[in-house]
Amino acid sequence: MRILAPATLLCTALLPVATSALKIGSSLQWIEHTPQPWAIKNFYKGSSAASLTSGGVANLASDKSFDLAANAETQGLKQFSGHRNIRLIYVICEVAYRIVANKASGITKLEDLKGKKIGTISSSSAQVFVNRMLSSVGVKESEYTLVSGNVCMKAPCGSGTFPQMITNKQIDAFGVWEPAVELGAKALGSNAVIFQNASIYREVYSLYSTTDKLSDPAKRKDIVDFVRALNKTLDVFRDKPDTVYATVASAVGMDASVVKDVWPDHKWSGTWGADLIEFLIQEDAYLAQKDRRSVVAKAELESFLDDSIIKEL
Ligand SMILES: *[C@@H]1O[C@H](CO)[C@@H](O)[C@H](O)[C@H]1NC(C)=O
Ligand SMILES: *[C@@H]1O[C@H](CO)[C@@H](O)[C@H](O)[C@H]1NC(C)=O
Repeated sequence: MRILAPATLLCTALLPVATSALKIGSSLQWIEHTPQPWAIKNFYKGSSAASLTSGGVANLASDKSFDLAANAETQGLKQFSGHRNIRLIYVICEVAYRIVANKASGITKLEDLKGKKIGTISSSSAQVFVNRMLSSVGVKESEYTLVSGNVCMKAPCGSGTFPQMITNKQIDAFGVWEPAVELGAKALGSNAVIFQNASIYREVYSLYSTTDKLSDPAKRKDIVDFVRALNKTLDVFRDKPDTVYATVASAVGMDASVVKDVWPDHKWSGTWGADLIEFLIQEDAYLAQKDRRSVVAKAELESFLDDSIIKEL
């Protein structure tokens, strides 16, 4: 061993400094995550490999081996409240969530959801969405019953999934990310009523990192490279969706025709507008009350939004 040591040192000295692989945490089962594997496969040219691991923004707070994570703004805000080093650096996708209701339950307008059973996933962006929509017509959370259930990615939807629960009349409506709403609407046929308003709520599915990672020069270079690759991917998702449906469908276990049906509800944004800060302030106030914590100050939320990587592209 001792004899080999000088040679090893020499080789190391001649090689470029190796950076560890870029580790990204993301739920791998949703449509919103799919630009990430596409970017790694087709465009990423960082100093080392990039790997996508099942996880999310909570990993950034608890495990320093994670460099990046993707999640809805809801999970980002929940983590930021206790971990102020987290930064939102890119918006992968904005999704105008939908509520589907059953006309047979006497529902034709949003206000009719008062007193009804509404399926959603608690502590997620879907619950925030349902609350925002109903609040917009003066219906409080105490005036309807939230029912938990599972999403469904492909018909036939099994027991305990929202599309199956609405056709069985266990719930009168449900609101969650796609394609469960699309599958519920298809199952209800002419009894389906849809409510959607992106100016009241849209999911802001974002990419996050930490100030520690962003201030490490070698790591930052790879992060910029990855975001550049994502940005190229979003051009394809936005402008040539026909070339993407089959890959997205197989990545998340959907039918390609249903991916196409829900594509218009997905906006592949990249960056964000001046209105995002007010949107986050409102959502943080709701989450603070739910999680029994104090609200995050506006100045702190402004530092949460870090557009410096986008500017480096
Ligand atoms: C969406 O919500 C905004 C804000 O409440 C409202 O002004 C607008 O009329 C709504 N749009 C539709 C199509 O209902
Ligand atoms: C990122 O994408 C936007 C929208 O397509 C484009 O205008 C911009 O030039 C892209 N930036 C880079 C560095 O590719």
